[in-house]
Amino acid sequence: MPLPWARSGNPCMSIAETLHGTWASRWVFIFAATGSAVGLGNIWKFPYIVGQHGGGAFVLVYLSCILAVGVPLMMAEVLIGRRARRSPVNAVATMARESGRSEHWQIAGFMGVLAGLLIFSFYSVVAGWVLEYLLASSRGELINMGYQQAGERFRTLLADPRTMFGWHTLFVTIVMSILACGVVHGLERATRLIMPALFALLVVLLGYTVTGGYFTQAWNFLFSFESRQLSWEAALAALGHAFFTLSLGLGAIMVYGSYMPKKSSISGAVLTIAALDTLVALMASLVIYPIVFASGSDPAAGPGLMFITLPVAFDQMPGGQVIGLLFFGLVALAAITSAISLMEPAVAFLIEHLGISRLQSCMLLGALVWLLGTAALASFNVLNGVVLFDRSIYNLLDFVTASILLPLSGILVALFIGWRMKRTYLREELAIRNVWLFRLWYLLIRFVAPAAIAVVFVQNLRH
Ligand code: TRP
Repeated sequence: MPLPWARSGNPCMSIAETLHGTWASRWVFIFAATGSAVGLGNIWKFPYIVGQHGGGAFVLVYLSCILAVGVPLMMAEVLIGRRARRSPVNAVATMARESGRSEHWQIAGFMGVLAGLLIFSFYSVVAGWVLEYLLASSRGELINMGYQQAGERFRTLLADPRTMFGWHTLFVTIVMSILACGVVHGLERATRLIMPALFALLVVLLGYTVTGGYFTQAWNFLFSFESRQLSWEAALAALGHAFFTLSLGLGAIMVYGSYMPKKSSISGAVLTIAALDTLVALMASLVIYPIVFASGSDPAAGPGLMFITLPVAFDQMPGGQVIGLLFFGLVALAAITSAISLMEPAVAFLIEHLGISRLQSCMLLGALVWLLGTAALASFNVLNGVVLFDRSIYNLLDFVTASILLPLSGILVALFIGWRMKRTYLREELAIRNVWLFRLWYLLIRFVAPAAIAVVFVQNLRH
C-alpha cells in the first residue's frame, strides 16, 4: 500500500520519499543528531541552571547522568528507530509486536510526542529572544552598555509582549517551513555548516575569557566538587537536563536513528554525539562565567544570564560587534536545528495516523505550538499573575517536560529495551563485538538507568 503522504500530491515529494530512507552516511547521522542535541539547552540553559544549583556538585551529577543514563538510553533510542524504521509511536509498537509483547508500550511514544509540542512552545519563545538580540547586534544597538543597562534591556524585552510575539511567530514559521519541506536534505546541509562554525566561535570566545582575570574562578565554580550539599531537587534538575540536552525521551533521536544506515556502529556514533554535546555546554559555561564574575553579578540570575552577560562581553572585545552578531546568528541556527527535531516525531506521527500530507501536518501542529508559545510568552508580562501549581506558565512547561515527561518516557524506553525486547535483536542491532561492553550497556539499561530515574523521582516527590 502506498504510504499516506505519497498519495497526497504534496509538492515536497522527494522529502516524502526519503522520510523512511537513510542518511547518506554515518557521519550525516552524527551531524544531524548533534544538531538536535546542541541547542539552547547547551548555550543558554546549562550555564544558568548550573548557577542556580550552586556549581561543581551539580556538574558532577550531571556528567554522571550523561554517562550512566544518557548514553545507554540514546543507544536504545537509536536501536529501536533503526530497527523499526518508523515514527516513534509506531516504532515502539512494532518492536513490541516483534518481541511478542503488548503494544501498549507505545504510550512512551505518545508521551514523547506531547513533550515535543510542549518543549517547542517555550523553546520558540527563547529562540525569539535570540532573534531579537541578533537584530539588535546587527544594528549596533548593543554597544556601550554596562551590566546594569544590559539587564534593563532584557527586562524591557520581557515586558513587551508584542515584540516577543513577533519573534516567536517568525521562529515557528521558519521551523515549520523547513519541516514542511522535509528534514533529511535540508538538515544535512545546514548542520554540516553550522556545527563547525559554532564550535570555532566558542573557541574564539573562550580564548577571550581564558586570558581575562576570572577564568580560574569560573573553572573552580564548575569543577570544585566539594563545594556544596546537593538537594534532590538539583539532582532531578541534573537528570532532567541530561535528557534535555541529549534530546532524549521524546523520540527525536529515535526518528533520526530510523534514517541511519544499517551497517554502522551505534555505540561509536552515540559516544561522539554525547561528547560533542557535553563539550559545547562546558565551553559555553567557561565563556559565560568569567564574564559573570568579572562584572560581580550573580551566577544564579536565571534565564536572562546569557542575554545580559554576553552583550556586555562583546562590547568590551576588540571586534566584539562582529563576533556578537555571529554568535547570536549561530545560536539562532543551533536553535533551529534542535527545534526541527522537537517537532519531527509529532509531524511524522500525524502523517502516519491521519493519512494527511506533510504540509497539513506541519500547519496543524504549527498552529498548536504557536498558540501554546503565545501563552508562554505572555506569562512574562500580560499573564504574569497567572500561577498554576506554584509556577508561571513558562516555568510549568519547563518543569512538566524536563522534570517529568522526559524522565518518565525515558524510564519506559529503558524498561522496554532492558526487560521486554528480545536480547538477540539487541545484539544484532548494536553489533558490539566486545562481550563485556555489551554486558555493561545491558546492565546500565536494565538496572542503573531505571533505578537512577526512579530514585531521583521518588525523592523529589517526597520533598
Ligand atoms: N537538545 C536540545 C537542546 O539542548 C533541545 C531538544 C531538541 C530536545 N530535541 C529534543 C530536548 C528532544 C528533548 C527532546 O537545546
